[in-house]
Amino acid sequence: MINIAVLVSGGGTNLQALIDAQNAGAFPKGKITLVLASNAKAYALERAKNHGIESVVVSRKSFADPADYDQAIIDTLKSHNIDLVVLAGFLSILGKPVIDAYPERIVNIHPSLIPSFCGAGFYGLKVHEAALSYGVKVTGATVHLVNEIPDGGRILLQKAVDILPQDTPETLQRRVMEEAEWKLLPQAVAMLTEQLSEE
Ligand code: GAR
Repeated sequence: MINIAVLVSGGGTNLQALIDAQNAGAFPKGKITLVLASNAKAYALERAKNHGIESVVVSRKSFADPADYDQAIIDTLKSHNIDLVVLAGFLSILGKPVIDAYPERIVNIHPSLIPSFCGAGFYGLKVHEAALSYGVKVTGATVHLVNEIPDGGRILLQKAVDILPQDTPETLQRRVMEEAEWKLLPQAVAMLTEQLSEE
């Protein structure tokens, strides 16, 4: 069984999509065994609790030295025998030691069609605000592997979503989640757990 950690910072709707997919049997080779939150107020922690999934908070603010923060993340993941790390709205950037500890085993969901509206500073609602202010007519979501370049790793899956004339950042965010993110992320986890279980 591939042990999956889901890293979260906020509402956790992508975590919920993963839990629902897991309960529906979408990734029989994997199991979400840990939810790691970057802050104690993340509603995603409630979702983990409701589904009996162990959770832990590792906050960057608790560490003066970024190297100690990275090490705390690594120690937490390793002590839970994690094989696959899923960033589901995790808004803290992981350092090189964490990426090196899980080569090709960290995956992220980003709410745009990379390479548009991505990289440092593009997260959450800001991504949709930028897409609307640029005036693009199509946006979407991307699942990619994580490397040292923010949103720069190999793309695994993408799905386009139309922008409607009356969209606000909030309506667009919701539609990108419903039409793209909540489908793509479980699909990527199914694919990766299948691959990893054959290694
Ligand atoms: C999602 O839209 C996710 O794609 C985005 O944050 C939101 C988290 O929502 N992630 C990023 O912007 C990463 N750069 P959730 O907590 O409800 O899953």
